[in-house]
Amino acid sequence: MTDTPESNAMWGGRFAEGPSAVMREINASISIDKRLWRHDIAASRAHVRMLARQGIVTVADSEAILSGLDRIAHEYESDGVPEDSALEDIHMHVEARLAQLVGDVAGRLHTARSRNDQVATDFRLWVREAIDMIDAGLAAFQRALVARAEEHSAAPMPGFTHLQVAQPVTLGHHLMAYYEMIVRDRSRFAAARTRMNRCPLGSAALAGTGFALDRDGVARELGFDGPTDNSLDAVSDRDFALDFLMAATQCALHLSRLAEEFIIWASQPYGFVTIADAWSTGSSIMPQKRNPDAAELVRGHAGRIAGCMTALTMTMKGLPLAYAKDMQDDKPPVFEAYDLLALSIAAMTGMVETSRFETARMADWAGSGHATATDLADWLVREADVPFRDAHHIVGRVVALADRRGVALHELAAADLTAVDVRIDPTAVRALDVAGSLASRTSHGGTAPSEVRKRIADARSALAMETTR
Ligand code: ARG
Repeated sequence: MTDTPESNAMWGGRFAEGPSAVMREINASISIDKRLWRHDIAASRAHVRMLARQGIVTVADSEAILSGLDRIAHEYESDGVPEDSALEDIHMHVEARLAQLVGDVAGRLHTARSRNDQVATDFRLWVREAIDMIDAGLAAFQRALVARAEEHSAAPMPGFTHLQVAQPVTLGHHLMAYYEMIVRDRSRFAAARTRMNRCPLGSAALAGTGFALDRDGVARELGFDGPTDNSLDAVSDRDFALDFLMAATQCALHLSRLAEEFIIWASQPYGFVTIADAWSTGSSIMPQKRNPDAAELVRGHAGRIAGCMTALTMTMKGLPLAYAKDMQDDKPPVFEAYDLLALSIAAMTGMVETSRFETARMADWAGSGHATATDLADWLVREADVPFRDAHHIVGRVVALADRRGVALHELAAADLTAVDVRIDPTAVRALDVAGSLASRTSHGGTAPSEVRKRIADARSALAMETTR
């Protein structure tokens, strides 16, 4: 890149010399913010229509500008955005091209406007759209979870705490746990959308403007709930982008946990799931390998998404009001987080839809590690009126006996149980049965197949309601 003496056509009036090559390079954001071109043109259209309605520009001038903007939209659509670092960002690219197309009248578009309120508006429009895309992806992911949960609503598997077998649960219940997490993720994105849906245009550089604007009209045309109420705040906060990144981080953490479970379950010593060929990769040296790369990348991407969130929090920390150029660094982390999250959601949806759950193997392990010991303690409480703490102690002795003999609890003879405590009668062994244990857990939100089916029915009607909305 070479130094050029020309000063900037947009703002160079007071400069005798043009920027140095490095200045140009550090200043330019076009390679990143060209992603905003549709939103930039939409906001310019709304702005110039309003200027004409208010008599601030003539109808003829606004029509010339609008037809120029249409032409630019066609050009960008078919050939992409041509990048010129001298023109810094997408806002100046559009305006410079407009000047080439319609001449001096192009200069009227920037009346009562600044790049500060422009970028704050464009970026809100972009994030709003991103939220809508993510939400649609999450809804599809939920439908996949519900479908597989329904298929396996009664399939026993070991439930874990500390990754140690704890109590039997159903696979349907386990999958529905993720459905619930995604309900909350979606509500976080929806709340972020509602909060950010105010239009900054008309705030101008920082102080508002003396032109008689119709800010409500512009806001309405762009689908906002109304104009922002403080010009300094409107041009200088990026909390809407951070809301998005924080919701994205939380969602990515959820996806990462499920990805981790698929990775563990697909490992041979577990053998709980077979990830479909379409979502597995091979090894260049070990012909037998079948690796869960997609799940591992979802787990990895969660770290990068959290990094994006951290990056923007650090950018914003300690910035005085109002706009500062540091804020131009708001876009890379948001774009990156969006791309990574959209891919992660699609990958997890595909894996959930197509994986084979090895339910026989899961069932074999469901009762392992004395997983129904709590059921025996509960039996003592219910049938023999033993306080739970004592029951826990008694069953602990039963477990120790089974371990000494190297057998499962249900393999102990009734006489052995009674020998530990006379209150354990022969009918107690029924409490040790995995299916019985599962069926008994009917508390709201519990793992009993009957309860899981109720929650699945609730989920199905919630999802059906959104599609008809
Ligand atoms: N490209 C800039 C950004 O994204 C647009 C705003 C520039 N404003 C300014 N006062 N230089 O932040």
